[in-house]
Amino acid sequence: MEKKTFYITTPIYYPSDKLHIGHSYTTVACDALARFKRMQGYDVMFLTGTDEHGQKIQDKAADKGVTPKEYVDNIVEGAGGVKDLWKLLNISYDRFIRTTDDYHIKSCQAIFTKLYEKGDIYKSIYKGHYCKPCESFWTDSQLDENGCCPDCHRPVYEAEEEAYFFKTGKYADRLLQLYEENPQFIQPESRKNEMIAFIKQGLQDTCVSRTTVPWGIPVPFDPKHTMYVWVDALSNYISALGYENDARDGFEKFWPADLHMVGKEILRFHTILWPAMLMALDLPLPKRVFGHGWLLINGGKMSKSVGNVVDPVVLCERYGVDAIRYFLLREIPFGNDGSFTNEALISRINSDLANDLGNLLSRTVAMAAKYFGGTLAPTGVTADPDAEVTALIGETPDKVAAAMDQLLIPQALMEIFRLIQRANKYIDETAPWALAKEEANAPRLQQVLYNLCEALRCAAILLNAYLPDTAPKMAAQLGLDPAGLVFANLGYGKQAGYTVRKGEALFPRIDVSKELEELAKQDEARKAEAKGQAAPAQPAPEKSQEEPEAQEHLPEITIDDFAKCEMRVAKVLACEKLPESKKLLKFRLFDGERERTILSGIAKWYQPEELVGKQVAIVANLAPRPMMKGKYVSEGMILSAADSQGNVTVVLFPDSVKPGSQLG
Ligand code: MSP
Repeated sequence: MEKKTFYITTPIYYPSDKLHIGHSYTTVACDALARFKRMQGYDVMFLTGTDEHGQKIQDKAADKGVTPKEYVDNIVEGAGGVKDLWKLLNISYDRFIRTTDDYHIKSCQAIFTKLYEKGDIYKSIYKGHYCKPCESFWTDSQLDENGCCPDCHRPVYEAEEEAYFFKTGKYADRLLQLYEENPQFIQPESRKNEMIAFIKQGLQDTCVSRTTVPWGIPVPFDPKHTMYVWVDALSNYISALGYENDARDGFEKFWPADLHMVGKEILRFHTILWPAMLMALDLPLPKRVFGHGWLLINGGKMSKSVGNVVDPVVLCERYGVDAIRYFLLREIPFGNDGSFTNEALISRINSDLANDLGNLLSRTVAMAAKYFGGTLAPTGVTADPDAEVTALIGETPDKVAAAMDQLLIPQALMEIFRLIQRANKYIDETAPWALAKEEANAPRLQQVLYNLCEALRCAAILLNAYLPDTAPKMAAQLGLDPAGLVFANLGYGKQAGYTVRKGEALFPRIDVSKELEELAKQDEARKAEAKGQAAPAQPAPEKSQEEPEAQEHLPEITIDDFAKCEMRVAKVLACEKLPESKKLLKFRLFDGERERTILSGIAKWYQPEELVGKQVAIVANLAPRPMMKGKYVSEGMILSAADSQGNVTVVLFPDSVKPGSQLG
């Protein structure tokens, strides 16, 4: 039987500067989806590439005194360029398209001619506003309240010139019908409504050529015009499959695309202009377009022009590629914006990767080595918690697959980590070290360790799509051939036995406070270097000794001050005492978007079990704080009331209030 196909694309990147961690997000997410589909047995085509024409590139090249082609060649193919970054991040793309490739140019010209011959492209005069950085034309009504670009809010300039237009407006009704008949087409749902509103306000035809931007694909029948970069760029999705060219193939096999993954700011091009072009070409339409949110830094979009970019290469060198992949895939709620902070990254590495995953593997392998010389087989001596663990091993793959089908990558990871956490709890419940004290318990002990190896084996298979460096390392420590990390091997009991081999810790724990101090020093040094000064020799001054005494009533604040505080309802998933502290309880909470850890000094008033499953109020935008000498990071605060004797009561909400609901 022929394999089912899956065609997934990233946007093609502007190689106008080095790519940052925000760009890496889309590509890593697509990579995880592509790997997952391959493991499910699909014949996958994963396309990425670069969008190399346009005014911006032309200007950058002129600044550097090189030709535009030399400029992009260096950023795409040169050392530390786009291709090197994808190699570093283990991006398993099948094809890489550059819009300066001859075959792409040939396809674009054929597409433009077809649209012209069909009467969907016509010549007229363009009068309007042009945003250079976004390479977008805007009408009066589309400009923002300051008369600037509605996307980047930078000034636009007036343009009037002869130009070709594509009849986008003609397709307005068919586009609305497309959205209605295919609820999957635009995702998430909320973004669909934005697109409908945009069309309903009156869809203008699109200006698709310029006479003042030489760095573009010439219009074949009128070469003083070059094509609008978006027509050129969007066509990559079919030119890469050999549409109207002989240099590539796969159009019959892979088109229409199963998924175009794009950032939310370019969703409009993919759900209006692109389907309208395809309708005009009488081609099938992509099945799904997903508009993901942005990676924010200090509340703003990470971007080179703002100067707040984080370099993925630096992060990978410091923490390892899989730690960065995991952070991107796990931390950013799919479809919504997510924030990058060093604290959040370190906290994820420590809590999920070092504590949960790393510890489970090292404890299991160490016990197997200690008690059985490393070699194990099931003995059939089962007891109570086994059924729960083996059932979870059985159920997890379907849950992960269901989440991946809905593009809920963080949820898919959560399911895998639920299994890992359950297995860790199983160690505590079965206490292998206690079983090991009696020779008679050896068969039970062996069964327990076999069960743990099975949980780890299945977790490794599933994790292979997200952590492609780590999963084979797990397999090696379990004594398995990494080639066996395939979905066909999922399921409890599929491995007859194990001969484990101790290895290095998968993710060494990071000392949070030392690390943050080190990063702050590096940041200082970088800033000083940028200013051409030496880093300050003296540490920052200690807090002044003359601070006023704490006041019973705080000074008055404005409504704007209050609005800075984001308070939300969160559900307590787990709560435990900390062995190192009499005061603190450690909470794992779900805040409506993601899980987070909060340490709260209420151990004197509450037993952990009392609060599990309850809904509390949290301050959600408090900067994460390292606690207990950096061993933990607390990501917020749980609201409680203290009476005049200092007795504390936590604010609780009934189940009818959804986690994530805002207080105000
Ligand atoms: N060249 C166009 C795409 C054409 S597709 C036919 C383009 N290029 S881009 O380099 O500016 O952006 C590529 C992708 O990176 C976009 O999906 C964009 O949303 C994404 N990101 C850029 N900065 C980002 C963040 N800070 N966070 C998340 N994604 C971000 O647009």
